Amino acid sequence: MPIKQKRRESYRDRAQRDLRRYGEAILHSEEMRQAFQQKHHKLSTVGDHTMRVALSALGLCYALRRLHIAADIPTVVTGSLCHDLGILGRDEKYLSQAQCLRQHPADSVEAARRLVGELSEKTEDAIARHMWPFAGSKMPNSLEGAIVSAADKIASFEDYTETIRQKAAGRLRARRERPGRKERLK
Ligand SMILES: [Fe+2]
Ligand SMILES: [Fe+2]
Repeated sequence: MPIKQKRRESYRDRAQRDLRRYGEAILHSEEMRQAFQQKHHKLSTVGDHTMRVALSALGLCYALRRLHIAADIPTVVTGSLCHDLGILGRDEKYLSQAQCLRQHPADSVEAARRLVGELSEKTEDAIARHMWPFAGSKMPNSLEGAIVSAADKIASFEDYTETIRQKAAGRLRARRERPGRKERLK
């Protein structure tokens, strides 16, 4: 009799499930809708970047779990989904890029409080110190904070590589649409 094999849940399915379970209210908030309207890291948006951070952070959690290191998933989900919400309205809010880099983590903590109410110490730490080791940020105090901070760097790198890919694709399209040499000589 054939043995029925249980399909192993993929990392992305598992991450989507955890995001829905612990981040539903944030994902459906007005702030998150606005996040997809605001440019971030050249051609990306705050929303796209946020989703990349959340997926990378959860990937790190699952990898650590295999090493018997358990991170608190709800903290990581709330921390990653809210870490940059304070940056919304950047151009009207901050006087300079330096001010934005320094201040948006604290503003994201406030945005997270408005969305989910009281935050655990670890969640606040993960949001407030996500810029580490840049912008004068202190080092995160928790494993969850370190995960969100590392995921933020990975996702920022992905934002820029996606920008390069989109620019290259745009240049290629423009070249293809340009009249060919023979046509130009007609
Ligand atoms: Fe940030
Ligand atoms: Fe970020």
